[in-house]
Amino acid sequence: MRTMTLTRRPSKNAVQARDLCKVYPNGTVALKDVSVDVADNEFVVVIGLSGAGKSTLLRCLNRLVRPTSGRLTLFGEDITRVNGTHLKQVRRRVGMIFQQFHLVRRLTVIENVLVGRLRFNASPLRGVLSMARVFPRREREFAFECLRQVGIEDLAFRRADALSGGQQQRVAIARALAQEPEVFLADEPIASLDPRSAETVMQILQSIHEERNIPVLVNLHHIDFAKRYGKRVLGMAKGELIFNGTCRDLDRDTVSRIYGDKAREALQELSVA
Ligand SMILES: Nc1ncnc2c1ncn2[C@@H]1O[C@H](COP(=O)(O)OP(=O)(O)O)[C@@H](O)[C@H]1O
Ligand SMILES: [Mg+2]
Repeated sequence: MRTMTLTRRPSKNAVQARDLCKVYPNGTVALKDVSVDVADNEFVVVIGLSGAGKSTLLRCLNRLVRPTSGRLTLFGEDITRVNGTHLKQVRRRVGMIFQQFHLVRRLTVIENVLVGRLRFNASPLRGVLSMARVFPRREREFAFECLRQVGIEDLAFRRADALSGGQQQRVAIARALAQEPEVFLADEPIASLDPRSAETVMQILQSIHEERNIPVLVNLHHIDFAKRYGKRVLGMAKGELIFNGTCRDLDRDTVSRIYGDKAREALQELSVA
């Protein structure tokens, strides 16, 4: 009999940012020389006050934002300056959800998820037809599978705008999953949700990470969720990455630099003496 040795899959770099800078056309410097690596087996939480540059960083990673300078690679491929068809391909490889869900409100849940599958269908006409009816059975089954992963398959035929915030965010996650992304980004996914829905959404993100084996990066305003879910935490302030470690490694001084005048609350939540 063959002996089996249990070996962990060696981790690879999913994302590599080097000296990333973003200056918006109005002169705002949103990122200053940010360098960070994210391995393909990581769940990373990015913390920082509003305006720290968290959204800009995530938006660079799926190239919704074009970095002003620096270098960005996705699984070893340089994506810093891609455009046109190549850029579309990059965006498909990176699933993203937002604070405001961005669903098509008048479509049903399953139709919203099928939007994530559009790239797998040749005819652009499918986009305008009633999708749940014209999509091939295997596409619909796949979409149902995505809804199952977020626990709302029973809501498949409800209109998106009839759902609660927490349910809408789960639809958005299912839609991103339907893209079969290689990396999952979430920009303040729980900021508009009640505490219970927030917990559910974070648990779903964690299950996606564990079951699908894909790296997840989540921007979070609050440190308590970061502490519980982030295996690794990145701390941003004024466009700079000023912390890269675990919550346990955060000291008073760093918390003060990340949270400014809100540092006291953050320290309490962290129980840092
Ligand atoms: N499209 C934009 N044009 C100009 N300035 C922007 C734009 N988006 C963000 N900013 C500015 O860039 C800085 C970082 O913003 P952002 O990345 O949204 O931070 P965060 O997500 O941490 O709140 C802020 O000063 C913000 O006002
Ligand atoms: Mg933001």
